[in-house]
Amino acid sequence: MNTAATRSAHIVLIGMMGVGKSTVGRRVAKELSRPFVDSDDEVVSRTGRAVSEIFATDGEQAFRRIEAEVMADLLSSSTPSVIAAAGGSVLSAETRARLRKSGTVVWMRAPVDVLVDRTSRGTHRPALADDPRTTLTQMETDRESLYGEVADLTVDSTAPIASVVSVIIRSVNEVDAQ
Ligand code: S3P
Repeated sequence: MNTAATRSAHIVLIGMMGVGKSTVGRRVAKELSRPFVDSDDEVVSRTGRAVSEIFATDGEQAFRRIEAEVMADLLSSSTPSVIAAAGGSVLSAETRARLRKSGTVVWMRAPVDVLVDRTSRGTHRPALADDPRTTLTQMETDRESLYGEVADLTVDSTAPIASVVSVIIRSVNEVDAQ
């Protein structure tokens, strides 16, 4: 949990692949007139390489190191932003420590069926290539406690986007007011 003094900084969306962090994050940022940044996009723009290419050529651990550096930089920015943190970013203990200090962390959740459907589009998720349902189920089991460790609030993201966006904005305001 964050202290009241630091809460109003970034709004960080965490959660599993396909839960809607980027789509919702863009809308939240627009409504609040804040910049939006997606950690995967930042990895791509810094390295000039696709996420899938980094996984295939250098391996997952190399990707995780870049991801942790990117998250450190995004979270240390002094401009209050909306940040979509890629699903695996919480695997880093250092990133989790930074998340707890950097703003309000929103854990977006949806059942695996929804994640399977939503991840069937896009190419930046090489880990899901073979058996998305089994992989997502296992990942969620492995990561649940990590998401829970850093989250200030949890939001059900199966609802229509507009209502997820307004629930997030309202909930963040409530957390900030505490
Ligand atoms: C991953 C999530 C992806 C991307 C990569 C690995 C993960 O980002 O970083 O495929 O391990 O959960 P999104 O959560 O934005 O899909």
